[in-house]
Amino acid sequence: MRDQSTLKPASHAAQAIADLWWILFVVSVIVFFVVVALLLVGVLRRRGGGEPDRSTSRGATKFVAIAGVVVPAVVVISLFFASVATLPAVSPAGKNARMTIDVVGRQWFWDVYYRSRSIRTSNEIHIPVGVPVEIRVTSDDVIHSLWVPRLNRKIDVIPGQTSSVVFDANKAGVFRGQCAEFCGVEHGNMALLVIAEPQTRFDRWLTNEAKPAPASAGLSAFVGSGCSGCHAISGAPQQSRFGPDLSHFGLRQTIGAGTLTNTPEQLADWIRDPQRIKPGNKMPKLGLPEPEIQALVRYLESLQ
Ligand code: CUA
Repeated sequence: MRDQSTLKPASHAAQAIADLWWILFVVSVIVFFVVVALLLVGVLRRRGGGEPDRSTSRGATKFVAIAGVVVPAVVVISLFFASVATLPAVSPAGKNARMTIDVVGRQWFWDVYYRSRSIRTSNEIHIPVGVPVEIRVTSDDVIHSLWVPRLNRKIDVIPGQTSSVVFDANKAGVFRGQCAEFCGVEHGNMALLVIAEPQTRFDRWLTNEAKPAPASAGLSAFVGSGCSGCHAISGAPQQSRFGPDLSHFGLRQTIGAGTLTNTPEQLADWIRDPQRIKPGNKMPKLGLPEPEIQALVRYLESLQ
């Protein structure tokens, strides 16, 4: 399940960002206390009253020149080089990605494509541990931003433009990501999970994802209830791309881009009234009879 125990970086890039963050934090704390100390000195000295002593003005000028020009210059220039040193670690060009995954931001979910295997999935990105993976992002509507803090910096997801970020997980785990650019009413419920797993497990997942759903009574119910008007399931006759792809939905951990946990009860709640759970999302309340909802839940959870 979701790994919430720690916020420790799980990649070289995230480690570099965390290191830089600590440097910036420590320096800013030191600067803050020095400024406060100088303010206090100024305030307390003033209490003494009287004219400033002209004999100390040369020393004062020297102090202002060093503390006001030289020290800030050294601090800013050092921080600049510390930041520049971090750039290669987070840049997509700095790594030899061995795999590419396309992610399309949509209001309000993530469309995920493994094009070499003709796989489409939603809101979960599986990657192998120890393999640099290029995540190529674009948007289908407004500007979103993909951010998985434990793996890399955030990357803006812009319509008509393709940008890249590399995920290179150095340990297995489930890393939560979130849309980090306000994109409308359900921006807050636009999460995703990155599941990093050992290569053999990843390969098994990939092979399984590439399999189409078997034709069944459940599939007919899915088509008959109108679900296929928006959602695709590999192997189904209709392949609408409007809503999230539901192939192998039973293996996913969440419903509605991280809004609910994927359990039969919560899925039934979702189908009954998605607008109550995620107001403004594009799935309407269908008003289906209860037995039909239960049949859909059984079918969708069986898609493994
Ligand atoms: Cu998508 Cu915020």
